[in-house]
Amino acid sequence: MSDPRLTELARLLPGLKLSTDPGDLEHHGRDWTRRWTPAPIAIAYPADTTEVQGIVRWANDHHVAIVPSGGRTGLSGGAVAAAGELVVSLDRMNKVLDFNAVDRTLTVQPGIALEAVHNAAREHGLIYPVDFAARGSCQIGGNIATNAGGIRVIRYGNTRQWIAGLKVVTGSGELLDLNKGLVKNASGYDLRHLMIGSEGTLGIVVEATLALTSPPPASQVMLLAVPAMDALMKVFAEAQHRLRLEAFEFFTDRALEHVTAHGAQAPFAEAYPFYVVAEFDAADEKAEAAALAFFEQCMEEGWVVDGVISSSDAQAAALWRLREGITESLAAYKPYKNDISVRISRVPAFMAEMQALLAEGYPDFDVVWFGHIGDGNLHINVLKPEGLDYPAFVAQCEQVTALLVDTLARHEGSISAEHGIGLVKKPWLSSVRSPAEIALMAGIKKVLDPNGILNPGKLL
Ligand code: MLT
Ligand code: ZN
Repeated sequence: MSDPRLTELARLLPGLKLSTDPGDLEHHGRDWTRRWTPAPIAIAYPADTTEVQGIVRWANDHHVAIVPSGGRTGLSGGAVAAAGELVVSLDRMNKVLDFNAVDRTLTVQPGIALEAVHNAAREHGLIYPVDFAARGSCQIGGNIATNAGGIRVIRYGNTRQWIAGLKVVTGSGELLDLNKGLVKNASGYDLRHLMIGSEGTLGIVVEATLALTSPPPASQVMLLAVPAMDALMKVFAEAQHRLRLEAFEFFTDRALEHVTAHGAQAPFAEAYPFYVVAEFDAADEKAEAAALAFFEQCMEEGWVVDGVISSSDAQAAALWRLREGITESLAAYKPYKNDISVRISRVPAFMAEMQALLAEGYPDFDVVWFGHIGDGNLHINVLKPEGLDYPAFVAQCEQVTALLVDTLARHEGSISAEHGIGLVKKPWLSSVRSPAEIALMAGIKKVLDPNGILNPGKLL
C-alpha cells in the first residue's frame, strides 16, 4: 500500500481485508454497463458493521470517495469506480443472520446473493418474491439500493414492499436501525424508504430484515405470438380479467432472434412481431379452464396468432429462458440501455409514437424492445453497429434518448423504472424530477452525507 491514506486505513482497522491487486481493481471498479474504465484506489472487504463504520469515518477524515459495491449487475453505472474511489465490497458480509417463523422474516447481511435469499426462504416453506434474471450474481444490498423490480412486480411489487427493517451506516458513519421489522409503525418519517432506491448515496446497507410470504399455488407459463403492437395491451387486459397473473412480459422478434442465436430453442416455426410470456396460477381444473378460455378469446379476436403453454417445470423454465436470456444475448453488442416507464394505460400510445420516431429518424439502428410491459416498464436497447467506435455510438444514442425524454415528458413517464439513474441517466434526471425535487434530494444528501463521500457523482 504505497498510498499513505490506505496505510492509515490498514492501521486503524488491522483486521480489514484490503486489496490493490490490479485484477480486483478492474473487477470491482465496473458494473454491467462496461462503459467506464475502472480506476479505484483499492477495494475494502469489511467483515462486519464496525469495519464499515470505520471505513466511512476514515473516508470522511481523508476526503476519500466511497463506492458501495454489491454484485455489480447494475446497468446504470451506479457501482462504477472510475475516479480514485475506495470500493467497499460487501462480498464477505453474505450470511443469513436469523429466520423468524412468527414474523415470517429473514434477516440477512447485504452481500448475500438474491438466489441464496430465495433458497433460504424456501427451506422454511416460504418465498422472497422479488425475482429477476441476475438472481445468481446480484446482492440484496444492491437490490435495496436500487429498489430492484424484475419479473414479478405485477404480483408482488418492488423490493421496497419487502423490506421490514434496515440497518444502514450513513455518510457520517452513524448506524441507523430503521423500522426493526415492524408491520405497523406510525412514528414519523420512514427513513427506511428514503434509503431504499438511494443508489448508495445516503448510506451503506449493513443488514436487512426481509418479509417473506407463502408460495403461490402451482403456476403455468404461456408464450403467445402477437401480430401487432396494439394487440399487446388488449391481451394484457384480457389476461388480467381472466387469470391471476404472476408475470406478464413481452419481447420483439429482434429480441427472439438474438436469444435463439445465443442457443435458445425457437418456440414457433414462424417468426412474429411480438411475444408475450405470461405466468399465472393454475392450481386446479377451474384455473386451467380459465387459461384455455383466455387463449381462445385472444385467438378469436386476432390478438394472438399462436401460443404454447407449459406442462412441466422444465418447459416453463425453457419459455422463461427466451425472456430472461435477452440481456446476455445482447451483451456482446454493448447495448445502450433505456429503462423507461409510463402509466400502463399509456403504453400503446407511447410505444406507437416512439417506434414511429425511431423508424423515421434512425431507420438503420438496431433497436430491441423487451421488458415488463404489464408494469408499464419497457427496456429499449440500441445495439452498437460493428465498426462504429463506442464514444460515437453513445453520442448517437443520446440523441435517441433526447427523443425518448421528449416523448416521455408528453406521457408523464420516467427515464428509469428499475435500473436507477447512476451515471448513465444522470444528465436526464431534470427531465423527470422538478428543480424543487432535485433541490430537496440534494438537501437530504447533505444531511446524511455532509462531506459527500458516498457514491459522489451518481444520481445527483
Ligand atoms: C431485464 O428485465 O431483463 C433486466 O432489467 C435487464 C435488462 O434490462 O437488460
Ligand atoms: Zn428489467
